[in-house]
Amino acid sequence: AVKIVTIGGGSSYTPELMEGFIKRYEDLPIREIWLVDIEDGKEKVEIVGGLAQRMWDASPYDVKVYTTLDRREALKDADFVTTQFRVGLLDARIKDERIPSLYGMLGQETNGAGGMLKAFRTIPVIGEIIRDMRELCPDAWLINFTNPSGMVTEAAIKHFGWKKTIGLCNVPTIAMMAEPKLAGKDPKDLNYRFAGINHFHWHKVFDENGKDLTPELIEHINEKNGGTPANIYQAEFPMELLRSMNLLPCGYHRYYYVKQTMLDHALEEFREGGTRAEQMKQTEKELFELYKNTELHTKPEQLSKRGGAYYSDAACECIRAIYANQKIHMVVSTQNNGAISCLDDDSIVEVSSIISAAGAQPMAFGKLPPAEKGWLQMMKAMEECTIQAALTGDYGMALEAFVLNPLVENNKDTQRVLDELLVAHEKYLPQF
Ligand code: NAD
Ligand code: G6P
Ligand code: MN
Repeated sequence: AVKIVTIGGGSSYTPELMEGFIKRYEDLPIREIWLVDIEDGKEKVEIVGGLAQRMWDASPYDVKVYTTLDRREALKDADFVTTQFRVGLLDARIKDERIPSLYGMLGQETNGAGGMLKAFRTIPVIGEIIRDMRELCPDAWLINFTNPSGMVTEAAIKHFGWKKTIGLCNVPTIAMMAEPKLAGKDPKDLNYRFAGINHFHWHKVFDENGKDLTPELIEHINEKNGGTPANIYQAEFPMELLRSMNLLPCGYHRYYYVKQTMLDHALEEFREGGTRAEQMKQTEKELFELYKNTELHTKPEQLSKRGGAYYSDAACECIRAIYANQKIHMVVSTQNNGAISCLDDDSIVEVSSIISAAGAQPMAFGKLPPAEKGWLQMMKAMEECTIQAALTGDYGMALEAFVLNPLVENNKDTQRVLDELLVAHEKYLPQF
């Protein structure tokens, strides 16, 4: 029987994870689930842990949910460790988003200055978790969701040496849920080829006869069709650009391809309703009021307001595929190993992979056209500098990362934004 440990168990997303495991129990017989949190998340993890246990109790399966603030107690003999923690909670995200906005920059939680600071806070913690895992559960798989998911996964595999790490995101899942409907096809008849990095990947879609459906799907891209997560404003993509690329972008590409529109919208939203983080704090409050109700034993509908909806489909599917050696196609962050020829073999990329008991085997995508190659190399360089800065606390390296990031205008305020963010998050940045 399987032992699952979820770090950041107090997240409002946890009921999704439970639903995903309950659905898959027959192939993935779980014995116990440990939800780990910290003092600041004590109340949250107790509330959501109560709902998690009620969800299992309402199922035909006998699974025990434990909540604890003692990570080491939980990690002992774990089979799968999932990570969904946020250092500093949503209050830290408010700063990530607000401070850059004050200087007219996009302060997004994964892309942009906010995401870089989130990496600085998170990467040392993932290092500590791996140090504990080495001692307490040396054979466990680490399934990472913590954003910036690609960078955190790269730090885990390349720098902390935990090869059995897989990084996940719901963006590919959501696209693969929406596209069969648009193409008028059964989901099992479509084949996908994704390539890129987290929140910066493109893909192609083929039908059961190998016909390329990408051009047809591009024509639907500007319809509100459910293929984009709830947190991203759906500004229109320029059709000429996509037709020329003949690749389907991910929702986050709007921040780069129609940057000014996205920035204008974010600043307007910020003035009217607060940052996304502030809005989500309110949503979180409402969700926990619902979770407290002891009559509730299912995932409430309101959780779909959050951008991470359906992430459990990725997490639970991946864990089941490893456990049951299913050899299925999934899009995950894993070591490149030549799948994208213009990036280093040891870089972490988010690509179509076959998931089995051996983990993720990335599929070769073939040569990327010049524009995508240029973007990817630049974005990967930005990630590498961000990770280096997170590991060492080197201020110059942090500034190199800032200057490289296209969402951080390299103007007179760049350094000021970095400084203000470093000061605002001082408590969580002992390395700087
Ligand atoms: P949240 O603010 O609710 O934080 C989750 C929990 O982590 C909190 O209860 C908090 O107390 C806890 N925590 C903080 N530091 C910790 C530590 N050192 N050890 C253990 N627990 C700790 O966050 P959320 O909004 O629910 O999001 C959770 C995480 O998942 C974030 O990192 C977010 O970016 C990420 N996420 C990723 C995806 C994806 O596509 N990869 C989707 C949604 C959310
Ligand atoms: C998206 C992404 C996540 C992102 C999250 C934000 O879909 O894939 O990586 O951080 O959802 O959602 P939120 O509701 O917290 O803004
Ligand atoms: Mn994501």
